Amino acid sequence: MPQQQIVQQVDDGPFAYLDGTLCIDRLPLGRMLAGVGTPAYVYSTDAVAGAYRRISDAFEPIGGRVHYAVKAGGNLALLRRLVRLGSGFEVVSGGELTRVLRAGGDPAATVFSGVGKTRAELAMAVGNEVTVHVESTDELDALELVAAELERGATFALRANPDVGVDTHPHLATGHDEAKFGVPVALARELLERAASGAWPHLQAVGVHVHVGSQLPDPQPLVEGTRVALDLIEAGRAAGLRLDRVDVGGGLPVDYGGGAAPGPEVFARALAPLVDGRGVLLQVEPGRAVVARAGALVAGVLYRKHRPAGRMLVLDTGMHHLIRPALYGAGHRVLPLQQASSAAPTELVGPICESTDVLGVAELPDLAPGELVAILDAGAYGMAMASNYNAQPRPAEVVVEDGVARLARRRETWQEQLVWEYERDSAMPVLPSRALRQLTRIDDTAEFKIVDEDLIEQDR
Ligand code: LLP
Repeated sequence: MPQQQIVQQVDDGPFAYLDGTLCIDRLPLGRMLAGVGTPAYVYSTDAVAGAYRRISDAFEPIGGRVHYAVKAGGNLALLRRLVRLGSGFEVVSGGELTRVLRAGGDPAATVFSGVGKTRAELAMAVGNEVTVHVESTDELDALELVAAELERGATFALRANPDVGVDTHPHLATGHDEAKFGVPVALARELLERAASGAWPHLQAVGVHVHVGSQLPDPQPLVEGTRVALDLIEAGRAAGLRLDRVDVGGGLPVDYGGGAAPGPEVFARALAPLVDGRGVLLQVEPGRAVVARAGALVAGVLYRKHRPAGRMLVLDTGMHHLIRPALYGAGHRVLPLQQASSAAPTELVGPICESTDVLGVAELPDLAPGELVAILDAGAYGMAMASNYNAQPRPAEVVVEDGVARLARRRETWQEQLVWEYERDSAMPVLPSRALRQLTRIDDTAEFKIVDEDLIEQDR
């Protein structure tokens, strides 16, 4: 008879201890990473699928459609899984759009937001028939120019700033009137009227977009933002536009261990009466709610430090791979890969030369160098925000699907970080290099008249 396994679920996500060993989708993390090494991000794409379906099932009955916010995590393997699930996408750069297209995403189900799109990015959107979420009058003009140059039509939604306050971390609130995002409501009305009167002949307005913030504690701000968007849609329709999309942005929260976060059903229920009978497609752009809980950053212990204040572990990862604790004071649960009977508060720090390189404090057993820990809820804004600070390579990424773990992105190397640079001075292309010369001393306050060297040449 096979022996009974002792299963201890960590929560309702993909992580569980099987006979004391931490697993993702029942696969032991330690063994999985033996050949890959640490640090490594590991994701369960089945957990991603579960989260996606839950959101999609909540919003579909009220005419909703999910556009996954790629900024939360853009690994191609994750995107391919989301493509197979039928997800739409929200991108904020040409780089993210490139990823979505490579993964087989449908450009018609992709929207392009962001306050600072370049001409090249607008051209890429227009060329691929991606709807542009326009955030300023200048951007409308730029989009018109680009579309005219390409002799193409383009669709856009106007991003309005609904001036809604949100009880979230200040860095995550985007819908208040001081934020850089969107245009004020009064200007939005004006722009929709101008669009209706043919001010931008190559552009067709299709909807209104708002995004009030991330990690929303309750649906209220989203409801307020949606109301503002729907009012604008009515105003645009009255002016003669055929607006049929209301995009309410992202912000669906996840539980980072500090208490339950309301599920997508709560948000859908709150929006249902607003959109009912309005003849609009409701677009939602969740990022973290799709991927955060599905991923962990697995790290190795390099050294132990015993200080009067308590135990400290130096890990082979830090703020360069997971910046959320340093940037937002975000808390991430940390688990040992092997369960132990005793644990004590342990501060986890990284190798980076910054005092903010602290990942948090966790109850951990007395781990020795070489042992591993898993930093949970790191599937969103983890690898996506990782950097090469201190010339550190970014981690590997592993995806687990249907009980099979695969390397989705190999670890970067030290040498690869040099590929954008010139290794010899003589190889560096020379750029226009006109020196500006101090010519005439004007007075005793040591000001100098700066004159273009070429003009001096001409004078001679
Ligand atoms: N749509 C728009 C227009 C957004 O600006 C964002 C996030 C989203 C959707 C997705 O939001 P989510 O559903 O993931 O909350 N780095 C921060 C989060 C920044 C979010 C920026 N915009 C973090 O680690 O918490």
